[in-house]
Amino acid sequence: MLSQKMEQELNKQINAEMYSAYLYLAMSAYFEDQNLPGFGNWMYVQAQEEMTHAMKIYRFIFSRGGKVELKAIEEPPREWDDAVKVAQEVYEHEQKVTAMIHNLVNLAREEKDYGTDQMLQWFVSEQVEEEDNADELLQQLKLIGGKGQGLLMLDRELAARQFVDETQQE
Ligand code: FEO
Repeated sequence: MLSQKMEQELNKQINAEMYSAYLYLAMSAYFEDQNLPGFGNWMYVQAQEEMTHAMKIYRFIFSRGGKVELKAIEEPPREWDDAVKVAQEVYEHEQKVTAMIHNLVNLAREEKDYGTDQMLQWFVSEQVEEEDNADELLQQLKLIGGKGQGLLMLDRELAARQFVDETQQE
């Protein structure tokens, strides 16, 4: 059984993951509009991953006899100055999500809720990867100055990213 507090916080995390999906989908749409389909693809795959994160917590709440409460998802921005600004925002957003996951782990440990703690460890590892990927993208963009031929080459590279549901690989 989940505590009421934990149930509430896990529901908030579903919302945060859904917002992440929405934010990255908005970034994907921005890149499509900028004729950078590779970047658009990268962000689209990122959005798909976020949906699976939300669903992992959704399933977990049920498996612990809890109640799912879906709240409104905030509207994401639509415009960014350039690709560097987008990557910067992705990196900062992932750092915020990491802090949220760590707060959930702290709560689970305070409550001696080891089942939730164990489930959250998947997210702890995932966040290391997420921050690393976002930082790599940001650094590459900075290296090429965020424009010109380098940008087009990076766009071609990012077109190859494919969605894999990592929540199913346990
Ligand atoms: Fe689900 Fe990118 O954190």
